Amino acid sequence: MAKIIDGKAIRDYNLDLMKKEVALLNEQGIHPCLAVIIVGSDPASRVYVNNKKAACEKTGIISREYALPEETSEEELLGLIDTLNNDSEVSGILCQLPLPEHIDKEKILERILPSKDVDCFHPENIGRLSIGNGTLLPCTPNGVMKLLEYEGIDVAGKRVVIVGRSNIVGKPLAMLMLAANATVTVCHSKTVNLSEITRQADILVAAVGVPGFVTADMVGDGAVVIDVGINRNVKERLCGDVDFENVEKKASYITPVPGGVGPMTITMLMRNTITAAKNS
Ligand code: GUN
Repeated sequence: MAKIIDGKAIRDYNLDLMKKEVALLNEQGIHPCLAVIIVGSDPASRVYVNNKKAACEKTGIISREYALPEETSEEELLGLIDTLNNDSEVSGILCQLPLPEHIDKEKILERILPSKDVDCFHPENIGRLSIGNGTLLPCTPNGVMKLLEYEGIDVAGKRVVIVGRSNIVGKPLAMLMLAANATVTVCHSKTVNLSEITRQADILVAAVGVPGFVTADMVGDGAVVIDVGINRNVKERLCGDVDFENVEKKASYITPVPGGVGPMTITMLMRNTITAAKNS
């Protein structure tokens, strides 16, 4: 049976460390501040934004919320970002996705100053990451790295297989893993003989967005299995990309959903906000 990696406990441990760090920074006159923009009234986005504000409160990071109506124009949103870019009290800016369809997401994300881009979505920050020179790091991928580090799982020299090539998880995680000296394979929907490849993984990461996609026959004995999926099953319950019940019997470590990678995303957002404040 696998050891279940407790993302909530690792989150709490990290937030506690950050709380101490923020208190010390405050003494030096540095006050990390996260500005979160939410456009429209998507219920899932509302929950995410509230969770981000709660994490700010736990760590002593100042949070500001800009809740804009659905019909906000692209120009208005760009104007707000310009204002926040020029506000020296704001360390980090996050524009909650998805945005309404009439707004060009790329244009918005590229307007955020790279030094305040705490999501690490800006092409400049992705470019820095790809040359191993990232300062602000992508939150979910970095959360995966922190979970492994906390469990004492060294990725150097290991065969890491990532299923999923998204710009938010698969690709940036491959960059972080490479920087940490793993041997990385990225698989996707067009990969031939997927199971043959996944079975060879020392560390298998599922970031596909399909409930139960990774089945026990795709996992080698003793593999570390990291589930980045956040899906709703037929009963509307949260579930990951991994068939947890059966894979758990084969893996050495496994992350649950919920309570695995998810809590680490916001934790790493706090980390980026502190880093941005220190560098400003
Ligand atoms: N929507 C869902 N997850 C995220 C995230 O990590 N960042 C932003 N900006 N929007 C999201």
